[in-house]
Amino acid sequence: MRAVRMFEYGGPEVLELVDIESPVVAADEVLIQVKASSINPVDWKIREGYLKDFIPYELPVTLGWDVAGVVTQLGDNVTGFKIGDEVFSRPAIHKNGSYADFIAVTADEVAFKPPGLDFSQAASLPLAGITAYQCLVDVAEVKAGDRVLIHAGAGGVGHLAIQIAKAKGAYVIATASATNQELLRELGADEAIDYAKAPLAEQISKVDIVLDSMGGDVLAASWELLNANGIVVSIVEPPSEEKAKEYSVRVAFVFIEPSRRILNELRALVDSNQLKPLIENRFSLEQIKEAHALSQSGRTRGKIVIDV
Ligand SMILES: NC(=O)c1ccc[n+]([C@@H]2O[C@H](COP(=O)([O-])OP(=O)(O)OC[C@H]3O[C@@H](n4cnc5c(N)ncnc54)[C@H](OP(=O)(O)O)[C@@H]3O)[C@@H](O)[C@H]2O)c1
Repeated sequence: MRAVRMFEYGGPEVLELVDIESPVVAADEVLIQVKASSINPVDWKIREGYLKDFIPYELPVTLGWDVAGVVTQLGDNVTGFKIGDEVFSRPAIHKNGSYADFIAVTADEVAFKPPGLDFSQAASLPLAGITAYQCLVDVAEVKAGDRVLIHAGAGGVGHLAIQIAKAKGAYVIATASATNQELLRELGADEAIDYAKAPLAEQISKVDIVLDSMGGDVLAASWELLNANGIVVSIVEPPSEEKAKEYSVRVAFVFIEPSRRILNELRALVDSNQLKPLIENRFSLEQIKEAHALSQSGRTRGKIVIDV
């Protein structure tokens, strides 16, 4: 089968499209014929070697931790799926990924694809969607009427987070550059904030929940925006416990794990027309270097999909 593999850490040039054996399916796994994969920043962070100490890989490794496709083989112990099922997944990140014709995924990490989405749309949902859902619903326990600030609302995680927070009845404030203000409103944000126009504290009244996907100065600017007992959930760096005490707020750091439960929640939101992934760009396996460079530019609107 074809697979894009990383043979050493480095720039996009270390990615090579090669022919390898199809994965051997373990008893608890299903083999998925990959119809589409998607790019997440973690892909190029791993490629660059930024996460080397955190997730040790034996190279070469196949990148890509979103998949939508068709079940073509079942491990001996797998129940609940049959050959031909259309599925989607955010597979375990320590194993070979989905920039390939086939991927073996633990069945527990797989869910049925939302029927209303094509494979490309479905592949753009798992990693970013599980992240947004886990941060807002599981950790921050968002409820109707909460004021929620979503930084980077135009990005992969942010554009789904806006829709999920709205579906839960929250009042949503989202940030982006001037070019993406209209997009934030189309996604359902009640307030669209241009982060470059003026300091956030001059543009935003207090909120109950902050979803931080930027860290650094953006996280630093978030403390004074929170109501007492509010919560900042970051997906890029553990927020300071000291600052949390100083502002009497709560903090959480999330690094997501695969979750069939959340995939099913996302499917339900899609089915009820409350969630729709936005695809900015589509590439083929042959164009993976270009796709990585685009993601690494930090300007992605919605998701970048790899049609396999
Ligand atoms: N911990 C976890 O489990 C986990 C899971 C998923 C993602 N992440 C991390 O979360 C981060 C975001 O992921 P993603 O997929 O959403 O990335 P992404 O799609 O690449 O995000 C790009 C977006 O960031 C926006 N942006 C850039 N600078 C900004 C700023 N100063 N303020 C507000 N928005 C800004 C851009 O909008 P403009 O062009 O309008 O500025 C663009 O739309 C990445 O670092 C990723 O690795 C972590």
